[in-house]
Order: sequence, then structure tokens, then C-alpha cells
Amino acid sequence: MKLPKSVNVLLLGSGGRESAFAWKIAQSNRLANLFISPGNAGTRAFGTNVDINPTNFASIKQFVLANNINLVVVGPEDPLVKGISDYFASDPEIRLIPVIGPSQEGARLEGSKEYAKVFMMRHGVPTAAYRSFTKKELEAGYAFLETLQAPYVLKADGLAAGKGVLILSDLTEAKEELKQMLEGKFGAASGRVVIEEYLSGIECSVFVATDGKNYKILPEAKDYKRIGVGDSGLNTGGMGAVSPVPFADEAFMEKVRTRIVEPTVEGLKKEGIRYNGFIFIGLMNSGGEPLVIEYNVRMGDPETEVVLPRLSSDIIDLFDGIAYGTLDKKTIAVTPQTAVTVVTVSGGYPGDYEKGKVISGLDTPTESIVFHAGTATKGKEVITAGGRVLSVTSLGDSIAQAAEQSFQTIDGIRYEGMYFRNDIGKDLISM
Ligand code: AMP
Ligand code: GLY
Repeated sequence: MKLPKSVNVLLLGSGGRESAFAWKIAQSNRLANLFISPGNAGTRAFGTNVDINPTNFASIKQFVLANNINLVVVGPEDPLVKGISDYFASDPEIRLIPVIGPSQEGARLEGSKEYAKVFMMRHGVPTAAYRSFTKKELEAGYAFLETLQAPYVLKADGLAAGKGVLILSDLTEAKEELKQMLEGKFGAASGRVVIEEYLSGIECSVFVATDGKNYKILPEAKDYKRIGVGDSGLNTGGMGAVSPVPFADEAFMEKVRTRIVEPTVEGLKKEGIRYNGFIFIGLMNSGGEPLVIEYNVRMGDPETEVVLPRLSSDIIDLFDGIAYGTLDKKTIAVTPQTAVTVVTVSGGYPGDYEKGKVISGLDTPTESIVFHAGTATKGKEVITAGGRVLSVTSLGDSIAQAAEQSFQTIDGIRYEGMYFRNDIGKDLISM
């Protein structure tokens, strides 16, 4: 089986990642109609926004049937962890409509840190040593912390909106945090806590498309998680990204492929876990050796905003391979150019921030691609509607050139409280 020649696509999500997907899908000559649920002010340029929450499966089903949707592409993890793929697969009316995204079992690789660690151990995927503890095992948790060296890494087992990982330099503090987490600091998500060995090195993200048997490695990226210049301050969803990553050379990527990607895809297959979608592998490059920090079961945000602009092959063709087990017959083409994205956020983010600020300068011609994230429309105006507002991507012959182009574009955009990191990519320039 394969997708029809001309495809009606429903894309779920509303962030910068989904804007990049919508932009890329709209370029496919296999596209008939694109709908984005719920989308943002920017996705309207590529398709029709539909006001349905991506976790409202019954409404999605209705929409899919009423609009002859041939393909559902899931952007964020939430609908996957809640089982959207199984919802489709088990309903006779929609079971033949492919969903890009893993089964609920596969989504546990992101939904539970403990599950991901056990999976990695079972399949020999290199990762930090760890143990996990529940509230009843607090004393054992303290004892385990005492066997480790600082810094101490504590992770809430479940989804905690990117806030569930704490890295502490002091043992007493680590014990106190462990206690608070087990007592519900992150709600049910921290009812179990994974404590793991601290890995030093430099991080990068590798993206894999898989149909459950075959895989393709997409361009890698590095993201900038902290709010402040020089990687300081609080963690965010991501303040910028760069692709390719200079230190992820051929030798490193070959290690990633043989030690991590192959055993991961083989492991899914051996365990009979249905997985037609993307695997995002968060890696630490520890002295040239890749170690897995985490799996995500979707593409990254803002990494997608640099990965897709470098993909020169057709994305619906890639989805076709992912959906129908024919990825081995697909080729993906990547431009050697460098992509840099710089995220502009609302003042105060990742803490409290105001919404509803009018954004100006969006119509100024630019060489960059201005992907919208937290934006909405109010009458004829575009206003801020989230923490991360825009993701401004540029292609160039070097990181410096691409980054400069994005900064120039941002220079022409205004909204009250706008903030961005002016050092995206700087650490990589001398590498
Ligand atoms: P995660 O949500 O698992 O990606 O963790 C968030 C961030 O915490 C990662 O991007 C790393 O920067 C950091 N981190 C997680 N685990 C470790 C570890 N074992 N050693 C060092 N840093 C880590
Ligand atoms: N940029 C990190 C993420 O998407 O989880």
C-alpha cells in the first residue's frame, strides 16, 4: 500500500515545529489540501487552520472522515503518549488512515524515563548508569546518591513539560530535591524518580525516521536550551538551533548509527512495538563517544526549524515510506548549507509572561524563513500568544553567515518585551 498521488494531510500541533512541517508539506507536489489543528497565525500561509485540540481524538476522527484526510502527521508528544496512533489503528472507520507517530507503547520511550532506560539496557544502547526510586524507596535513593559523585542528576519519570530534570551540585540539596520530587513536586510525573550518572560533554540531537523496520537518519542539530547568553539561566523549550553540527563528523555519526540507531530500531522490531514515525535521540558527545541522554518520539522544537529547511527531498514521499514500511525505497536529500534558527520569546519567559502584544515587521521582505510559534491573529494583526513566539531560520555557507542573517531579520521585527539569544551558534563557530 501507499499514499494516493494527491494527498490530504492533517497536521496536529501549533508550534514552530508544526510551522516548519506545514512549510515543507506545502512545497510537496503530492499535496492536495493541508489542514493544521490548531495551527497558529503563521500556518495559515500554508494551509487551513482548524480549531481542534490534538488530544480530542473523537473530533479529529470526525474531521478526518468529513474531509477525506489521507494522512495524519502528529507534531507534539502529548497525543502520541495518549495513544492517538492506537485510536486510529483500532477503529474500523479510520484504521487505514496512517498516522505519522508511534503506538502508545512506542511513545513510552518519551513518556517514561524509566521505561526508556530499561529499553536501552535491554538492547545495549550506551547511556548513563542509573537507578530509579519510588516514595517508599526514599532511603535507598539517599543511599544511591551517596555512592555517586557530584553533580547529581534527578529526573521525574513522566512528562513534566521539559522541567522534570534537575542537576544539583550538592548532596544535601540533591537529597532534599529527591524527597520533594517523590512527594509530588511535579505531580504524578515525579512519583518515580530516575537518578543517573552525570555525563559531561557536548550535546547534540539526532533525528531518525523509521517505518518500524527500516530507518533514515535526518540531519542532526544542536539546540540551545537555556534562556541566557552563554547557556546561563533557566531551561526553556529551546532558544535556537544549528544544523549541521560541526563535531558530529562522519566517524561520530557512524558510531551513533551502529551503537544507537540500529539497536534502537532493532529493539522496537524485536519487541513488536509498532513505530511509524520519528525518533529524536538526545545525545552527549563524551570525548567522541555518543551516549543517549533521552529519547523523544517526535521531532524537536526548534530543531525541526533547521532540519527541514535542509531537506531537499519531498516530505510526503518520506511520510509515505514511514507509513507503509517502504522507507528502504526512499531517498532523502540534504543540502550541505548550514541552517541556524533563532527563537524570539515573550518577555519573562520561561517564567510568567504577557500575551497579546502586537507583532510588527512580519511583512518586511527577508532572506530568512520566519516560522511562527506562539502567535495568533486579532483582526488584521498578528499578536503574541505563547512563550516562544517566532523561530527565524536562515541558510548560509557558515554558521556565522546564517546566524547573522537571522539576527538581521529579527532586527526588523518588533513586539513589546521581545527577547532572543544573540549568541546562537557562537560556541560552534571556532570548532
Ligand atoms: P532530558 O529531559 O532528559 O533531555 O534532560 C534535560 C537536560 O538535562 C538535557 O538536555 C541535558 O542538558 C541535561 N541532562 C540530562 N541527563 C543528563 C546526564 N545524565 N548528565 C548530564 N546532563 C544531563
Ligand atoms: N528542543 C528540545 C525538544 O524539542 O524537546
